[in-house]
Amino acid sequence: MKGVIFNAVEDAVERAFGADGWDDTLGRAKVDGSYTSLGNYDDEELAAIVGALPDETGCTIPERLRWVGINCVPFLVEAFPHFFDEITLEEFLPALNHMIHPEVRKLYPGATPPDFDISPIDDQTISMRYVSDRKLCFLAEGLTIGVASHLGRTLHIDQPSCTHDGDPHCELRIHLTA
Ligand code: HEM
Repeated sequence: MKGVIFNAVEDAVERAFGADGWDDTLGRAKVDGSYTSLGNYDDEELAAIVGALPDETGCTIPERLRWVGINCVPFLVEAFPHFFDEITLEEFLPALNHMIHPEVRKLYPGATPPDFDISPIDDQTISMRYVSDRKLCFLAEGLTIGVASHLGRTLHIDQPSCTHDGDPHCELRIHLTA
């Protein structure tokens, strides 16, 4: 996983728990914590950090990954403001696959962001199929909630199918509430 994602997690943890909170997390995770945005780091290192987050971020790994996703959005907005300019959530979600993550592949050579297959179901419901070997669908849920909130929308997400339950793929079903 690219260092920029670790940078975003560091920013999220420091904003919520201060620099000491991040240092304590790194200590519990037993990682040294120096990440350059263009560097590549083991996915296990991210898993160790998520496992070592303060309990306030959630009791389970899915809860903590959602917390990370939601709280990484301010960093992403600051680092890549143009992706968030004058865009609705309904436009942003398809742009992830067509524009944002392809741009990420150019900016961060060797990056392998996930694939999303977006299809509207009705006015209030969007289906978002998540395809990645990393099995970080709960991170995807959190990022989607965080982006929606940045764009002034509220929603909830369920997963009618999830690889963690033995299904062949993950489908994030987005229910827009406002
Ligand atoms: C709704 C918004 C977004 C969602 C749901 C999303 C989802 C994800 C997920 C789940 C991953 C983890 C890798 C995987 O699962 O295979 C990821 C990776 C990544 N995303 Fe996104 N993302 C979003 C927006 C963004 C934005 C705005 C950026 C900014 C440029 C971004 C940049 C990246 C980068 C750099 C990676 C690391 C890829 C790698 O290290 O190989 N994402 N994204």
